[in-house]
Amino acid sequence: MSQEQIGKILETYRERFSENPSSIVTAPGRINLIGEHTDYSEGFVLPVAIDRNVTLAFTPRDDKVIQVYSIDFEQELVVNLDNMQRGDGGWKEYVMGTAWALMDAGYALNGWQAVVAGNIPIGAGLSSSAALEVAIGKTFCLASNIDLPPASLALLSRKAEAEWVGVNVGIMDQLISAAGKEGHALLLDCKTLDYEYVPIPKEITLVVLDTMTRRELTKSDYNARHEEVKQASKLLGVQFLREATPQLVEETRTHMASTIYRRARHVVTENQRVHAFSTAMRNNDLLTMGQLINASHVSLRDDYEVSSSELNLIVELAQKQPACLGARMMGAGFGGCALALLATDQVEPFTENVFSLYRSQTGIEPNIFIVTSADGVGECSVPLDL
Ligand code: GLA
Repeated sequence: MSQEQIGKILETYRERFSENPSSIVTAPGRINLIGEHTDYSEGFVLPVAIDRNVTLAFTPRDDKVIQVYSIDFEQELVVNLDNMQRGDGGWKEYVMGTAWALMDAGYALNGWQAVVAGNIPIGAGLSSSAALEVAIGKTFCLASNIDLPPASLALLSRKAEAEWVGVNVGIMDQLISAAGKEGHALLLDCKTLDYEYVPIPKEITLVVLDTMTRRELTKSDYNARHEEVKQASKLLGVQFLREATPQLVEETRTHMASTIYRRARHVVTENQRVHAFSTAMRNNDLLTMGQLINASHVSLRDDYEVSSSELNLIVELAQKQPACLGARMMGAGFGGCALALLATDQVEPFTENVFSLYRSQTGIEPNIFIVTSADGVGECSVPLDL
């Protein structure tokens, strides 16, 4: 977040609370290089924490009250931890949901007061909600002297989203927001939650292509895929698709409805692509990385059916540009962002061409921007000069 944005948070905090906050918490959004819709099948993912985040300036309180003002939504939540009620599904639910998840796990929480703002486009597939949950979780930990390792913080943040908000998400977004590392992608095993950091080749530029179309990550679309992979697992005789091989899926094909077969095929082949991609990344094999990203898109579009016409268009336009190694839709899908990998930092012709071609074919102006890698959630002191 820029100095100016942090300055705005501090200024708003001082206006509202007539004091300086005691500290600042920042939790990043993410891109995902590869491994899409695999996490809730206990598979593998390869996300990167990015330089877009949710930031809170806060001070612990002596009571059980949470008072938090959101600059982005121009709304305030004031709630006693002993008396939280589920509301309408907006940003406040992520705050209360995270509090509930921590308390449900047996942690005694103190209240705090804060001002929060973010620069992650909302609902675009860059995990603004996971960043909010992780930032709130970290704030509770700091205000209540709780020491949680990144995986536990991620699990409780996920629980907030699955059980309080009601979207049965996997663990990827919360874990990368909690454990990201600058310069690296995180190769995560979503079964064991073991992870390792894979260095991002220096030549690579990561470009986010926001179609500016949104389809809210509602219970219906996302949870429907969840149900379908459960059905597939049952037919394949495994607990999660992570345990199935492409060979098993092919052998069982005649016993499965075509949709269920294709859902399973996506997950098992995507898991293989994650490993192949990590190996290519370690070998600086940029061409293979690009091919795998393109293959991931085809699989998400045709087998998993979570793409959209705008996502398909922007991906095709990107793939045709000479600088582009590969491109694919990213995140939950149905709208939002695609990711392009470029083998150069000369991104202007790429951006200009994709922008104007997409705009002329859809009438929509896309939002195209470079992201760089960042660290996971962290606390910093309040800068004296802001
Ligand atoms: C959303 C969910 C993640 C993951 C992706 C798809 O971002 O929050 O857990 O399932 O979709 O890969």
